[in-house]
Amino acid sequence: MRLSDEAWRQAEALVANRLGLELPEHRRADLERGFLRACRACSMSAPERYLAWLASLSDEHPAWGQFASCLTVGETYFFRDRAAFDALEHHVLPSLIASRRAERTLRLRLWSAGCATGEEPYSLAILLDRVLPDRAEWAVTILATDVNPRALDIAQRGRYREWSFRDTPRWIRDRWFHHHGPERIEVDARIRQMVTFAPLNLADDGYPSVVTNTTAMDVILCRNVLMYFTGEALRRTVARLRRALAIGGWFLVSPAEASVELFRPLAPVNFPGTVFYRNDSVSVASPPPHVPAETIPHALADLALTVSTTSSDRASPHTSVKSLQEEPGEAGAHVAADLQRARLLADQGDLDEARKLCEAALLADRLDPEIPLLLAAICQEQGEIPSALDALRRAIYLAPDLATPHFLLGSLLIRQRERKRGRRAMETAISLLSAVPADEPLPGGDGLTAGRLLESARMYLELHG
Ligand SMILES: C[S@@+](CC[C@H](N)C(=O)[O-])C[C@H]1O[C@@H](n2cnc3c(N)ncnc32)[C@H](O)[C@@H]1O
Repeated sequence: MRLSDEAWRQAEALVANRLGLELPEHRRADLERGFLRACRACSMSAPERYLAWLASLSDEHPAWGQFASCLTVGETYFFRDRAAFDALEHHVLPSLIASRRAERTLRLRLWSAGCATGEEPYSLAILLDRVLPDRAEWAVTILATDVNPRALDIAQRGRYREWSFRDTPRWIRDRWFHHHGPERIEVDARIRQMVTFAPLNLADDGYPSVVTNTTAMDVILCRNVLMYFTGEALRRTVARLRRALAIGGWFLVSPAEASVELFRPLAPVNFPGTVFYRNDSVSVASPPPHVPAETIPHALADLALTVSTTSSDRASPHTSVKSLQEEPGEAGAHVAADLQRARLLADQGDLDEARKLCEAALLADRLDPEIPLLLAAICQEQGEIPSALDALRRAIYLAPDLATPHFLLGSLLIRQRERKRGRRAMETAISLLSAVPADEPLPGGDGLTAGRLLESARMYLELHG
């Protein structure tokens, strides 16, 4: 069966709009096959009807994930692009590690955006295992996301065929992998535990957000993904990824995707055979270090609001549950400004300062659930899991019907290998989110909508069943 020209044009528009992907004419035969496979998987025989049905579904519907998995290219392997991994090993990671040691904040946050079947994030984990001999002392986050649920499922299992090792030195295989049956090679459990897989559509605007742990990244790898995007989706996605970088953070694409123009104001930094882009922007949100939080002039807080990476272009996501119920007085306005600034600092990677502000805000206002929620996200990013859990329990106590803390609690517990409790918290989040309109922005969610979080929660359960 072939697609009519009219159906092909409809598919092109729909895919560009929802997944940000371009369907080039020269790949039409291949993409049509994928399209028809997705169509059959949903037991639909007429492509036009399938398209109309898809168009009527919200982005969060599982059929979209299934569709994406039939269209996207998942080609990847361990240590792909040796020059990039050499630069990470000899320049990027050592410079980050040295500055963190000097600051005494032993924390690193890495994100493989468009991770496919997981070879890229596991390569990062192996690299970190090598360059950080005292890793046990560090809070290391390696987030790995993709729009394709099947790819994430394979990634989560961590078992690969020989072909994934086509550019992996033998000694790495011997040290970090072992055979699993005659045909599969399994990543060492210690390395698997370092990586957190989660669904995320890069064409969606629900990130960066503390709720999905997509802020304050020291390194973002988004390689061989953006080349499939339409011009518009590319521009918007790059802007969001840039906002997800901490100050001093590094961004890497594949050599074919390199562009100084597109990634500006990130600064290109050349290493042998590769180029990284660094976020050299200066924190305008930090108060002078000796000024106590309570005495920060409003003008500075206002400035923070106007430059906030998360505020002006999004619909009022920061409206707190409490502030919906009552007009804040002057003290309330101070707390709200502090909370906003804490969020901005957290986005920029200044977690210590952000945490201090949050803790001060918590002392001033013990009833607003958004404060412990942000505090929990910050503690999680700092790797302080017991404090994060305490803050989440407090947020849940204050607002048991708010889905976000249940989601955070679920994802945190699942990552801590407490699957049963994690699943319970995630199920609570799902039942609360199901009762909220899909396009409603979540309090404290940086623009994340209920529908998107619902999709993430469902995928978490699927992945960690
Ligand atoms: C060629 S693989 C790249 C894998 C890895 N980054 C590498 O360079 O080896 C491209 C991946 O991008 C994912 N992808 C495509 N569109 C996406 C989107 N809108 N959001 C998130 N991931 C997407 C695909 O599912 C696929 O797994």
